[in-house]
Amino acid sequence: MVRDPVDNSSIITIERHILEEQAFHPKATGVLTNILYDLALAGKVIASKTSRAGLAEILGRTEDINIQGETVMKLDRFADLTISRLTDHTGRLAGLASEENAEFMPIPDKYPMGKYLLVFDPLDGSSNVDYNMPIGTIFGIYKRTGEDGPVSVSEFLQPGRKLVASGYIAYGTSTMFVYTAGHGVHGFTLDPHVGEFLLSHPDIKIPPAKYFSVNLGYQLYWSKGVQAYTEYLQGRGGGIKGLSLRYIGTLVSDFHRNLLAGGVFYYPADSKDPQLPTGKLRLLYEAAPLAFIAEQAGGYASDGLGPILDVKPSSLHHRTPLYIGNKDLVEKVEEFIRDLDSSGSL
Ligand code: AHG
Repeated sequence: MVRDPVDNSSIITIERHILEEQAFHPKATGVLTNILYDLALAGKVIASKTSRAGLAEILGRTEDINIQGETVMKLDRFADLTISRLTDHTGRLAGLASEENAEFMPIPDKYPMGKYLLVFDPLDGSSNVDYNMPIGTIFGIYKRTGEDGPVSVSEFLQPGRKLVASGYIAYGTSTMFVYTAGHGVHGFTLDPHVGEFLLSHPDIKIPPAKYFSVNLGYQLYWSKGVQAYTEYLQGRGGGIKGLSLRYIGTLVSDFHRNLLAGGVFYYPADSKDPQLPTGKLRLLYEAAPLAFIAEQAGGYASDGLGPILDVKPSSLHHRTPLYIGNKDLVEKVEEFIRDLDSSGSL
């Protein structure tokens, strides 16, 4: 059969895909669908800026220090504002919480309130911006727990199990939007000529592990269990054939590669910074949204003791150790920690 050269029926746009996904939820009102569109649009806007970052003289630091004590990069500010401005007025959200801000942002009085809460890390890996390395955006969507009225901070402090949808946008050699709404993980690649995200990676399942990803520079500061686990991944002792090491230092990019190629990423608790005894990564903005993706792709995410998705944040900026990727490998670290780290501490 000769294919019709203008037959576009096999091209699935993100819009079509998300709409079809809505059919899984007979009672869906379309609001969640629209939030996902809004985020895809934000991804396009941020991607256009990141690819012109040098030209636009946006590189460099602002003078502000964010809640994490880090210098805020200009691109972080841009990404943060882009996401909040594209989502705060639509009547779909009841509030937003960003890794860049100490407090959550209620919906301004002049706009209608919705029933969902958006949590996001606007520009993950921003310290890589100056070196033309990949960066990303991570998001999670929860339903608010209160009925009406002003949102309280406690409504944001829900365990990842309650996520309605989550995803990330990877700004790499191409821009990808990857999300789950509880029916598998789907990846879309931005076609810059068409200006649309097109389905390129349907129903992603994590393949057998090829890589491990960790900042080995901090090895001295890890617990015995984590050190032994690292040796296990390297093939010492013969438990497995050693894996290859890949580490970018942008969680989205390290996670994305391992999701597609197979592997485990971890950022353990360590003793290098007494201010951060439980590791660097944030439960609400980074660990939980990616944990939902990992589980939907047949993988697993743990804090070293149990599922990340079961941990209830104690505050908006709760930090956690994170082990994420192939299920068997993540379960293995729990074993090492249980056996070698007497207190089972994080
Ligand atoms: P930042 O956004 O401040 O650059 O932090 C990035 C995060 C995460 O994306 C990455 O996995 C981790 O920090 C890297 O930390 P190290 O530099 O300590 O390895």
